[in-house]
Amino acid sequence: MGSVIDFKGVDIYQKDLKVLTDINFNMNKGQFVYLIGRVGSGKSTLIKAINGEIPVYTGDAKVLDFQLNGLKSKYIPNLRRRIGVVFQDFQLLTDRSVHDNLLFVLKSTGWVNKYEISARIDEVLAIVGLSEKMDSMPYRLSGGEQQRVAIARALLNDPEIILADEPTGNLDPDTSSNIMKIIHELSKTFGITVIMATHNYNVLKNFPSEIVKCEDGRLMKTVMPSEEDLKNKLIKFGLSKGYEYELVYQTVMKMYGPQF
Ligand SMILES: Nc1ncnc2c1ncn2[C@@H]1O[C@H](COP(=O)(O)OP(=O)(O)OP(=O)(O)O)[C@@H](O)[C@H]1O
Ligand SMILES: [Mg+2]
Repeated sequence: MGSVIDFKGVDIYQKDLKVLTDINFNMNKGQFVYLIGRVGSGKSTLIKAINGEIPVYTGDAKVLDFQLNGLKSKYIPNLRRRIGVVFQDFQLLTDRSVHDNLLFVLKSTGWVNKYEISARIDEVLAIVGLSEKMDSMPYRLSGGEQQRVAIARALLNDPEIILADEPTGNLDPDTSSNIMKIIHELSKTFGITVIMATHNYNVLKNFPSEIVKCEDGRLMKTVMPSEEDLKNKLIKFGLSKGYEYELVYQTVMKMYGPQF
């Protein structure tokens, strides 16, 4: 009951490469899970499988009321309409305004009534606090503002799930916090299920939620190690405290996340 994503014994491939093996992954309505793991461990691959971008052949994979195993391509747009996606690089259409970016998505997902379209665009921009930027071109916006537009776009069709693949990857710490507040608030207010891949230790620390780790082709629940534990690990690797240690620590965190 309340299960929005339910994977049992699922293997996920990128072409011929088996990236994730025997995945058991269940998420309920409104749950917020971070996906961590080293570069290339399969975070984006899992997100793409949930979104129907990568086919699933083995095990039993359900997302909302869709069975992903053998899902016919004609049903994929129906699945995608109920999932909002947010990426590291925003992926806005650069040749048109914020309003027209949103209009494009609504039109291509079947909206026709211009009053409803206009009202929905107003609503989603208000949710992310960007009403006054409706007529701006994306290149006139800061990274954080562009990411808020991308979140507004993800919300247009009232998604039950948000898949966020390193949404703070291109943002500075303050802007990242701002974006994290919005995403957490969405999950709470609208009961949206959120899966967010991240390498950002500060995000995990400042906005705590459940954590699932991709490692050696497996997916497992984990808890965040304390900063002290992490720093002690670095010392074990032969780094003594000091300026360089701080630099290496920051870099390691950025590259590998808290599970190096
Ligand atoms: N389009 C593709 N074709 C073939 N192999 C791919 C493709 N995309 C990813 N892979 C491989 O699948 C594995 C998992 O990649 P994935 O992008 O899921 O990792 P990730 O955890 O998201 O990494 P990152 O932290 O860099 O985003 C890697 O070995 C990668 O080389
Ligand atoms: Mg990735």
